[in-house]
Amino acid sequence: MNRRVPKTVWRLLLVLAASIGVLALSGCGEDEKDQEKTSLRIGVSLYKGDDTFINNIRMELEHAAKSYEQSGGIKVSLDIQDAKGSQNTQNIQVERFISLGCDVLCINPVDRTAASVIIDKAMAAGIPVVFFNRQPVEEDMDRWDQLYYVGAVARESAVLQGSIVASRYQEDPASLDLNGDGVVSYVLLEGESSHQDSLIRTEWSIRTLKDSGVPIEKITGGIANWERSQASALMEQWLGQYPDTIELVICNNDDMALGAIDALERAGITDVKLVGIDATVPGLEAVRTGKLMGTVSADKERYAKAIFAIAASKALGREIPEDIPLEDGKYFWCPQEIIKENP
Ligand code: GAL
Repeated sequence: MNRRVPKTVWRLLLVLAASIGVLALSGCGEDEKDQEKTSLRIGVSLYKGDDTFINNIRMELEHAAKSYEQSGGIKVSLDIQDAKGSQNTQNIQVERFISLGCDVLCINPVDRTAASVIIDKAMAAGIPVVFFNRQPVEEDMDRWDQLYYVGAVARESAVLQGSIVASRYQEDPASLDLNGDGVVSYVLLEGESSHQDSLIRTEWSIRTLKDSGVPIEKITGGIANWERSQASALMEQWLGQYPDTIELVICNNDDMALGAIDALERAGITDVKLVGIDATVPGLEAVRTGKLMGTVSADKERYAKAIFAIAASKALGREIPEDIPLEDGKYFWCPQEIIKENP
């Protein structure tokens, strides 16, 4: 029997094998390309986990991740770490996130002027970063097109805060000018000096009052670093130094307003007016019970949803949704509104 395979058959076999190979290869490639990720790993580092406002954002971020998981069928692992006020700790957390293979980082920087260290690490690993609440300087934000920022416009918070006081004064001047001397004497509680919000909020709140024609006079002011206990100590000291003089306490955030309220309550004073910013859960409760004249709310659900939506889109290589409008392709500014007693 002639066992030789004719040349034409060999050729046919070769062509067939090659075609199968090409098909198999291209098929595999397509599969990989089309294969959507089924899970996301997001590393989140908070500048300080016990900050009330940041805690409220954290809760909303967890909600956003849960509802995304439930509606989208994509498993989300949100690894949230507390840097406890140490930039060094935060840098180590970022390294760990990278080594764990996180798809994206959400960073609330401890020192907003030192974001370049985190940016270097993220760029080297090719991992996008969504910064929030503590705004890195522009030169840093401009270093890479995979850097985003979510926050609230500080000037807007302050103008809204000032207008709470201004409209109260216009309705009832005597409720602010307690001694009837024609001026509202105020003290000012400020946040961290290195935070973009502190200086801008202070400046624009006062400017708004002046522009609205409220006669004001500053007694004193001090830095309480956003903290209730520090604000309470300062307020106690001022009440001792300036007895029966303080009529208004302007606070860069709600927690410091709550600290001032603590000191006023200890001294048995109930007629001094206070305004805050943040609309945290305890801040809103103080407005409801009439202890705080008003506060300014950045919609925390929207704030956290924006952080999450940008992060998830980046991790999946998708476009950022249109309902998250970005200024300059990287900044999302959360809408804000006034919350006051008897609106
Ligand atoms: C501010 C907020 C403060 C504090 C601070 C932390 O925007 O009003 O309460 O949370 O951020 O960075």
